[in-house]
Amino acid sequence: MKISVLIADKFPEVYIEELKKMGLEVIYDPKLGENDIPSIIKNVDILVVRSTKVNASTINNSNRLNLIIRAGAGVNNIDLAAASQKGIYVSNCPGMNSIAVAELAIGLMLSLDRRIPDNVMDFRKSVWNKNEYSKSQGIFGKTLAILGVGNIGMEVAKRANAFGMNVYGMDIYRVEGAPLTYFTDMNEVLPKADVISIHLPATPETKNMFNKKMFSLLKPGAFVINTSRSDVIDEEAMLEAIKEKNIRVALDVFKGEPEGKSGEVKSPLQDNPNIYVTHHIGASTEQAQNAVAKETVKIIKDYAANGAIDHWVNRARGVDVKYQLVVKHYDRPGVLASILEVIREGNINIEEIENVIFEGGMVGCCSMKMKATLTADMLRVINENPNVISTSLVAL
Ligand code: 3PG
Repeated sequence: MKISVLIADKFPEVYIEELKKMGLEVIYDPKLGENDIPSIIKNVDILVVRSTKVNASTINNSNRLNLIIRAGAGVNNIDLAAASQKGIYVSNCPGMNSIAVAELAIGLMLSLDRRIPDNVMDFRKSVWNKNEYSKSQGIFGKTLAILGVGNIGMEVAKRANAFGMNVYGMDIYRVEGAPLTYFTDMNEVLPKADVISIHLPATPETKNMFNKKMFSLLKPGAFVINTSRSDVIDEEAMLEAIKEKNIRVALDVFKGEPEGKSGEVKSPLQDNPNIYVTHHIGASTEQAQNAVAKETVKIIKDYAANGAIDHWVNRARGVDVKYQLVVKHYDRPGVLASILEVIREGNINIEEIENVIFEGGMVGCCSMKMKATLTADMLRVINENPNVISTSLVAL
């Protein structure tokens, strides 16, 4: 049976052809919405989406679905819990659209400084206002605070350095030689920041992270740019800060953003002159979409060739394993079963297991990770197995 791939968002034609050449059955329907997919998912093995939501009913209506690929970075549009409960892999394409998002963030920063969108809107209304639009401050020598220095934040930092800005960055991970000064204390950096650019994923920890307290730390007239996820900003607090401190904001994402690709949009942010909104286009350059599509094809190729899952995001991390048992054994039927039987009798659960074979196919090596240790007696029984060459049990 052919592997069936459903692509439910816009995807470059050349990469669709590449998938077809691999002998896969490809269903391409970029118009599908969240609620259309459940009725056609039944016989699909791989689902590819951009921002289209993959909800629990898509996952639960599927018979064969084994891999969901987010052709982009953020996976908050996919019901990860439902996928994990059904043992469906979810992968993404990290870093592939970082430059595009960084370019937009920089564009928004310059737009805020020069009020480029207002210039254009006035010109279209036949209004000439050089007086008003000559009040810009300039970006050189200003302080930028980047919240979230992953792939995108790093690209923003590089570009901001080229503008001669003082660049600060906050992240739980640090990269040696990063072109910025890392900070941890918002109280120290936010009051001196002229521009704040947010590049955080939507997680329970980042939800409404930019709240009243954070806005209260900003200096009057500061710029806040969010090209990440709307959930990160408390929009009520943002509107208050605009009123009280005349901060100015540029958003590529906002609460209540339409799911569709075109149509009407209504938002309380619409009539506020201190807010610029773009249409969630951070990743939408041809370069970025080609890079994302190329990576998606690579993920599918690796999966089809050997079952490997690249960029697997719903793999349990930090499972509390404490011991590793490594058994070298002759590669014969029943050897692993007999080792596992000893462990089962000891009522120990194996959390992770991998068996690999040495060249020549004579000897295998099985590594098992678990929370509890084996008793000396259990180890003795395993070692007495004539097909076991050696064992090593270590505390991790
Ligand atoms: C991402 O997470 O990669 C960006 O938000 C892009 O989303 P999009 O592919 O739906 O434009």
